[in-house]
Amino acid sequence: MERIQSILVISVVTKISSTCELISESMLSLSRSLVAALARSQVVAGQCGTNALLRFNCTSTQQEKPKKTKFGPLSDQNRIFTNLYGRYDWRLKGALSRGDWYKTKEILLKGVDWILNEVKVSGLRGRGGAGFPTGMKWGFMNKPSDGRPKYLVVNADEGEPGTCKDREIMRHDPHKLLEGCLVAGRAMGARAAYIYIRGEFYNESSNLQVAINEAYAAGLIGRNACGSGYDFDVFVMRGAGAYICGEETALIESIEGKQGKPRLKPPFPADIGVFGCPTTVANVETVAVAPTICRRGGSWFASFGRERNSGTKLFNISGHVNTPCTVEEEMSIPLKELIERHAGGVRGGWDNLLGVIPGGSSTPIIPRSVCDDVLMDFDDLIRTQTALGTAAVIVMDKSTDVIRAIARLIEFYKHESCGQCTPCREGVDWMNAIMWRFVRGDARTAEIDMIWEISKQIEGHTICALGDGAAWPVQGLIRHFRPTMETRIAEFQRKQQARA
Ligand SMILES: Cc1cc2nc3c(=O)[nH]c(=O)nc-3n(C[C@H](O)[C@H](O)[C@H](O)COP(=O)(O)O)c2cc1C
Ligand code: SF4
Repeated sequence: MERIQSILVISVVTKISSTCELISESMLSLSRSLVAALARSQVVAGQCGTNALLRFNCTSTQQEKPKKTKFGPLSDQNRIFTNLYGRYDWRLKGALSRGDWYKTKEILLKGVDWILNEVKVSGLRGRGGAGFPTGMKWGFMNKPSDGRPKYLVVNADEGEPGTCKDREIMRHDPHKLLEGCLVAGRAMGARAAYIYIRGEFYNESSNLQVAINEAYAAGLIGRNACGSGYDFDVFVMRGAGAYICGEETALIESIEGKQGKPRLKPPFPADIGVFGCPTTVANVETVAVAPTICRRGGSWFASFGRERNSGTKLFNISGHVNTPCTVEEEMSIPLKELIERHAGGVRGGWDNLLGVIPGGSSTPIIPRSVCDDVLMDFDDLIRTQTALGTAAVIVMDKSTDVIRAIARLIEFYKHESCGQCTPCREGVDWMNAIMWRFVRGDARTAEIDMIWEISKQIEGHTICALGDGAAWPVQGLIRHFRPTMETRIAEFQRKQQARA
């Protein structure tokens, strides 16, 4: 009965979120055309200056342009994260010299609608994994006040295996995140931001706290932030390293001092979030790009990447490449170019590539044939039955035991399941046990279909998306590497028969 109830709730939630998605898409395209019309009139009126950084009165210059067909490489002047590698001073003086905190007061004074509009025009989609349109999400907070304070919660948990982008922002560019908190907080009418950071990120939380102290001392945050008349506080909260605490409602529970267990939705955090108040949880990268979007204009950001997939993006490239790295690139850059240009190519050359997990451990693996020409954006990766996720690219060459690699990931998900939902608690445990038998080949081929079926019974039948994240790697393995699994089983049986 309990299970049926939870399945019912989940299907309602799924329907609501897909309806939201549809509404968001139509609103997004509507706002884009309105802004494009506005921009055209501004261009005609000759209001535009030449300095991109000073475009406060002419932010939206979207015009009919021929469709782009080439994406990347990103030029240095278009990078948002200019201290990604920590080569320069990360403290306030260095941040100011790189253009952070520039005209922040003017941005705040332009008001909620202006900021939200720029973010909508930019086409920014959440960088935490789900890719929900940010302008629309932040707009959910924009309701008449009922007296409760509103909060921005910044998700700095970064637990997805392979993902290591947010920590670089916090370690090397913490002021960019703080300024982002202020701008995003203003767009939501938030009273304060809580930055929830994974406990193991010691240096990152330390640098963040130093930056917060500097920003308070300089009057950039706190009472009358930047002289704008707006009061805004920022707090750092350190987690204890559980992957599930990255899920937004588990994170909220954890901030409240409880066990990090996801809540059933609705109510959504925008109605009842942290301490029972309206809350938006947003990823570090999503928040950190907001000030640059406001300074350079939403249409500047939207000029990168394909439609619906706009912007610049931090990519992590790890695994069997010659020079693993984190790099900011244009969205929609071909995967092959991303790996060859920035990570020194696959160990042993492109022909030695076995497959790639393109968006953090929960996204399904794709084989080399797909990697040859897939684009790194939300839509193209969905087309190829995987996902952009956190854009953490894990490269595997032909020396990889792909069954073992996936089994190890399932063991991780089994360990991290909070245990609230039966399909996740039991199903991921079963998948883990079966996967390790597949590693040895100690299984029947019929069990490949059986584990596929288990993964389908988990997917979409749980309170949070951890269940989906555990199901998808198994599905990717079967979709593309079934012959490898069958060969392993046949070899095991041959050895058994030879021994008998
Ligand atoms: C199990 C699980 C772990 C997650 N971990 C993170 C995380 O570490 N960081 C993050 O930003 N989002 C994480 N998310 C996604 C968040 O729930 C949420 O969608 C995101 O923070 C929203 O931010 P965005 O709109 O900026 O993408 C996780 C989701 C799940 C289901
Ligand atoms: S899907 Fe798994 S991790 Fe998420 S709430 Fe259910 S049991 Fe917990």
